[in-house]
Amino acid sequence: MTFRSLIYWMAARKRSLNRRGFPAINNLFHSAGSHNSHTQGELAYGSAEIVHKGFAYLMNNHIEGDYAEFGVFEGSTTLEAWAASRIFGLNDLKFFVFDSFQGLPELEAMDGNEVFTKGQFSSSLEGFTRNLNREKVDFNRFHIFPGFYDTTLPGLKLVDPQFAFVFIDCDLYSSTVPVLEFLTDKLVQGAILAFDDWYCYDSPQKGERRAVSEWLQKNPNIELLEYNNFHWAGKSFIVNFLKSR
Ligand SMILES: C[S@@+](CC[C@H](N)C(=O)[O-])C[C@H]1O[C@@H](n2cnc3c(N)ncnc32)[C@H](O)[C@@H]1O
Repeated sequence: MTFRSLIYWMAARKRSLNRRGFPAINNLFHSAGSHNSHTQGELAYGSAEIVHKGFAYLMNNHIEGDYAEFGVFEGSTTLEAWAASRIFGLNDLKFFVFDSFQGLPELEAMDGNEVFTKGQFSSSLEGFTRNLNREKVDFNRFHIFPGFYDTTLPGLKLVDPQFAFVFIDCDLYSSTVPVLEFLTDKLVQGAILAFDDWYCYDSPQKGERRAVSEWLQKNPNIELLEYNNFHWAGKSFIVNFLKSR
């Protein structure tokens, strides 16, 4: 770690600790009532930590590209990404954010467990933009895509999308599949792919792990190199293309 990035990292860490009271700390994938304040703090802190670490990694390795987040809820992690971009001086970074703003979709058989339910994490586009507005983000750099992924993503055309940091926090196998499909041709070499719910199920045959495993089988040109774990459930990777595209 260079001295400069160490200073940035310490500033980010202090800032994250200071943010503990922010309302979007409801960044939880447990059903209401099944968590305690320690877990809430750990989740919010862990997500903030990986975002700041990831931006440090991108800056120090001169990896260029934008930020995308799938599953933003009330904007807690989005705002950490915004804060990190300011700390690291990434003043042209764009933010592509995707959410139904109606919570989780109907669960498919593959998603079934006692934890997640249809409509869980329901937020509103208005509430999300209000939270961003409160932190005075530059909305010219934000692209917000409301809607369920299976309908919004397949036909969506972006102008030369190049994502360098992707945060996936949509809980379900059935939600992660269209997200990964959408991302296949939009990631830069060395991009960070962070999964907030990696260890959320009792088996790699479920949830985000299953979706990733199937995606890698379909795309043998892509390998994921382990990067950092965060809080109790999150894991991040560095994207490596085995052949140049
Ligand atoms: C746990 S919350 C995200 C928390 C957020 N990252 C934060 O920082 O607070 C999960 C989000 O994923 C969204 N989501 C899950 N599946 C989706 C789908 N198929 N289409 C659109 N949004 C989805 C939900 O609406 C919800 O806002």
